[in-house]
Amino acid sequence: MPSLVHTEIETAVKGFLIDQEKMTEVVERMTKEIKMGLAKDTHARAVIKCFVSHVQDLPTGKERGKYLALDLGGSNFRVLLVNLISSSDVEIMSKGYNFPLTLMSGSGKALFDFLAESLSEFCHTHGLENESLPLGFTFSFPLQQQGLSKGILVAWTKGFSCEGVVGKNVVTLLQEAIDRRGDIKINTVAILNDTVGTLMSCAFYHPNCRIGLIVGTGSNACYVEKTVNAECFEGYQTSPKPSMIINCEWGAFGDNGVLEFVRTSYDKIVDKVTPNPGKQTFEKCISGMYMGELVRLVVIDMIAKGFMFHGIISEKIQERWSFKTAYISDVESDAPGEYRNCNKVLSELGILGCQEPDKEALRYICEAVSSRSAKLCACGLVTIINKMNINEVVIGIDGSVYRFHPKYHDMLQYHMKKLLKPGVKFELIVSEDGSGRGAALVAATAVQAKSKL
Ligand code: BGC
Repeated sequence: MPSLVHTEIETAVKGFLIDQEKMTEVVERMTKEIKMGLAKDTHARAVIKCFVSHVQDLPTGKERGKYLALDLGGSNFRVLLVNLISSSDVEIMSKGYNFPLTLMSGSGKALFDFLAESLSEFCHTHGLENESLPLGFTFSFPLQQQGLSKGILVAWTKGFSCEGVVGKNVVTLLQEAIDRRGDIKINTVAILNDTVGTLMSCAFYHPNCRIGLIVGTGSNACYVEKTVNAECFEGYQTSPKPSMIINCEWGAFGDNGVLEFVRTSYDKIVDKVTPNPGKQTFEKCISGMYMGELVRLVVIDMIAKGFMFHGIISEKIQERWSFKTAYISDVESDAPGEYRNCNKVLSELGILGCQEPDKEALRYICEAVSSRSAKLCACGLVTIINKMNINEVVIGIDGSVYRFHPKYHDMLQYHMKKLLKPGVKFELIVSEDGSGRGAALVAATAVQAKSKL
């Protein structure tokens, strides 16, 4: 069947279609950057920071007890109560709090007051106001960790820009907000990245899990490194524990210009309208916060040039961020030749009465953006697996893009296989409740460590 897609559209998205050779180049460049992040003498100028998480113990399955958890990092904010009852029984109660968007760019004090208020509401609802439960705080932004319960915010990502937080210890800011209220007794024992929670949560059931990946609003991965290689950890040569989870913060890959060969003019437009231009280059090519906007930019460009929708533009699609990343999953969920989801998306965007070639074009653009995301993510995972030099690994994954895109898992698997050395086995597993169960497991580690002092 001849392609229904206009050659001009094919040309416009060409930049998103990265081949095997480029992928191999991405792996090579990323390998270099990860090594720079880990090494003490190059860490300061490295873009992939490879932060030490201070989590050195993977779950044994024997962790028990009740923990509170906070989850801040994407589009939702949640408070959770996790009861680790046995290795097969974990009870989780959680509540999502409506996160006012104005908080994302307000003052740090307003943000932490809101977190404390939600936590207090949750504790009162569950009769926990007088219990001093240990709390694990999943805070999904780049943190320079100086201990399990001390993390300095390096930069905001994913559209956040609250004042007065960068450079501060986030645990102190939370604790101060809790103390200002004075109506609950909370003991924040650990702060962790969502990738770390994801790894820990998956490792609870899959002991061979060594990598945690998030492809959601943002993107990042962590992995289990040998402590001796985690040179930015003070005890890297003396620690009795052989492993250290490293929070790569791979979203910043390319901030020094090494990824220009996989970027397009549309990526540059997206970058300019974010609160952190020039930052999180890799993340902006991969994650859910940006994929929909990339599709929208290609579409409005094609409309303006008269190659789609007869050149007729709707008001809605002219609005920034109006093409949600979830639409990409919708459009790609239609079977070939069918357009049920596509029609729904088009009608939500106020685009009516378009023909099959337009719908094929939209699907083609969505596929170009999502397949580049999956390919780059595959490159990242392969880089980490090669660095670990292992032949078998389980990767725990969470995030809306991975969960809801109909082909993401298969694309990731396909490209990883093509890039990995023959014989390396891996399994991609959805990791449930990283910020609940994962946070509780890290909190349990922290409590144990304290009790040994
Ligand atoms: C943050 C990471 C986080 C990732 C996924 C990125 O923007 O910098 O810390 O793990 O998003 O939530």
